[in-house]
Amino acid sequence: MIYLDQNSTTPIDPRVTAKMVECYERGYLNPASQHALGQQARNRLESAREHLIEMLGGCIAGMEADRLVFTSGGSEANNLALIGLAGKSPGTIIISSIEHPSVVGAADELARRGFETPRIRCHSSGVIDLDHLRELISKHDDIRLISIMLANNETGVIQPIQEAAALCHQANVPLHTDAVQAVGKSEVCFRDLGVTALTFTAHKLNGPRGIGGLLLQRDAALEPIMFGGFQQLALRPGTEDVALAVGCETALSLWQEEAEARAARLVEMRNLLEKRLVESVPISSIIGADSKRLPHTSNIAFPGVDRQGLLIALDMAGVACSTGSACASGSSEPSPVLEAMNLPPEIIESALRFSLGITNTVEEVAKAVNIISRCVKQD
Ligand SMILES: Cc1ncc(COP(=O)(O)O)c(C=O)c1O
Repeated sequence: MIYLDQNSTTPIDPRVTAKMVECYERGYLNPASQHALGQQARNRLESAREHLIEMLGGCIAGMEADRLVFTSGGSEANNLALIGLAGKSPGTIIISSIEHPSVVGAADELARRGFETPRIRCHSSGVIDLDHLRELISKHDDIRLISIMLANNETGVIQPIQEAAALCHQANVPLHTDAVQAVGKSEVCFRDLGVTALTFTAHKLNGPRGIGGLLLQRDAALEPIMFGGFQQLALRPGTEDVALAVGCETALSLWQEEAEARAARLVEMRNLLEKRLVESVPISSIIGADSKRLPHTSNIAFPGVDRQGLLIALDMAGVACSTGSACASGSSEPSPVLEAMNLPPEIIESALRFSLGITNTVEEVAKAVNIISRCVKQD
């Protein structure tokens, strides 16, 4: 099987597994225990936390040190950011129209609690409309939070977060960014982005499933969304797992060590995939092709072909890809992201996402192109 669905999850790197096994073999116990064994676990956990903050471009020293709350992954971190930063009394939460279902779902929950939740429009290029953000900011005087992803999971299109952060600063409104697809694929620096909070998850960068986090400026007024424990400053109760945190730390540090080589390989494979497909299936249309994109994501439409049928044919022929977000898979509804981009129905109905990772090879991609063009022509 050629696995081109790496935006849904990535295989764990054996070097990450080795570090995690080392932790399990050392037998780290509960980091919240007061005895010496607990303190050993606490020390290793806190060192992973600090290293992660540093690698994500946060600050670890002094009064301004940033905070990292470990969560079970990106979905939980997004829920914590939106609901935890919204405050108790209803106000306005602005999100972009191309967010992941976990941000949309949290915003919908806030709407049920009486919040207004307007969406920032998106251009057909896949980039959000900053003029519309300006307009929304000027229209609402009770904005609690704005949430805009760093790069889209379906198209790979990178969003103008620094520009959005400048607008948020002027309006004195916190900005959250879902950086799940960008961390471990492109350089991400929390402080340079100028955001208040940033979501990431380990399993998208060859780390373990079951851990992610929310990186926060120290003064961000985060309220917990779960209760009954004092772990992580009572912001996210529950026993922390040292091995998962170390796995997350190892995955990100491996990316940092190999960032240039990995990005170059991903771009080479993506360009090969797109160039060869356009040559052999000239109707292919690459979504967001003219925008700045992550190096590993390619969303390609084959007008006239049914995406669901094509996905199944590819699966049977040995290529795994997806129709969009894994959190929306199982539904044959059109992608809300592509709809927000206002793409024509024949593009939306025929688009598939191919996402590459470090476990893919150029040879695999070349083979996948032959299989894809054969299946498209047979459809
Ligand atoms: C952009 C984005 N945000 C959030 C998530 C959710 O992350 P997790 O699977 O760790 O809950 C995903 C996963 O597909 C994603 O692509």
